[in-house]
Amino acid sequence: MLLTLDDNDLSQNLDLDSTVMSGRPLKKRMLAQLARAVQILEQQHHVRPCLAVVQVGDHPASSVYVRNKILACKKTGVVSMLHELPGDTTDAELHALLERLNADPAVHGILVQLPLPEHMDPQAAIQLISPSKDVDGYHPVNLGDLMAGRGALEPCTPRGVMTMLRAYKVDLVGMHAVVVGRSMTVGRPMAQMLMRANATVTVCHRFTKDLQEHVKRADLLVVATGVHNLIKGEWIKPGATVIDVGITRLEDGSLSGDVDYDVARERARYITPVPGGVGQMTVATLLENTVRSACQTLGVEIDLRRA
Ligand code: GUN
Repeated sequence: MLLTLDDNDLSQNLDLDSTVMSGRPLKKRMLAQLARAVQILEQQHHVRPCLAVVQVGDHPASSVYVRNKILACKKTGVVSMLHELPGDTTDAELHALLERLNADPAVHGILVQLPLPEHMDPQAAIQLISPSKDVDGYHPVNLGDLMAGRGALEPCTPRGVMTMLRAYKVDLVGMHAVVVGRSMTVGRPMAQMLMRANATVTVCHRFTKDLQEHVKRADLLVVATGVHNLIKGEWIKPGATVIDVGITRLEDGSLSGDVDYDVARERARYITPVPGGVGQMTVATLLENTVRSACQTLGVEIDLRRA
């Protein structure tokens, strides 16, 4: 382990009796711990972790996400390097930038904000990033390592969900976990991590027959489809833990998830709100991955339970 978070500290200030599993206090604790790790790297190894963020075009939601990522860097002392490229950038131009960032020893993490404009090839960009700098954990080498059970850089959203479940002391062993959505960025890696934690995992997707029947059997439900209100509140097993990864902007401008929150909340033991739930953990975990990547480059181990 290159970087170990202090789980006891993460659980501090969380209201474990509440039904709402909030990401905000957890993100704050994580960033405070990571700031300590950055301080150690700077004082003892004279290196500041650095994250390069590449945004192509001006997709409005992406601009908000990128701004939040840069802000989180500032809070931890991680150096951020923002590369904003015009919407008509070619794959070759993006690849040339990625090669430069791969070769720059001052850069520890590289993130290409998705989605890329229609004319570009996201997989080609992801595969060009050096796996050791792939802080999104999307490179096939990192996804393969995750499957082999030895992941160093893991996708931020599912890893953030695992941190959240640990901090809220949800015992996953033997639990029936149902993951709805099979994306490369959330559903698939989520299922792998839950299996690693000894849960029994069912993965549902758009061709699943009787989604409702699967959801009704879930002790832990993770939903990542981007389909607003796909999961009805009445489907939730009483006492289940519900993790809503979806985020949709409604016509009135508000944000909402994939789960019918108000009804589900009445049945669940824990439920993550949208916004203020999983999204917070994604950003915090991106910073965790950046610091971990710097530790890996330097060959340093930091255990924040003792630091
Ligand atoms: N677009 C929306 N979420 C993400 C993310 O976590 N990483 C990247 N690279 N793009 C995104």
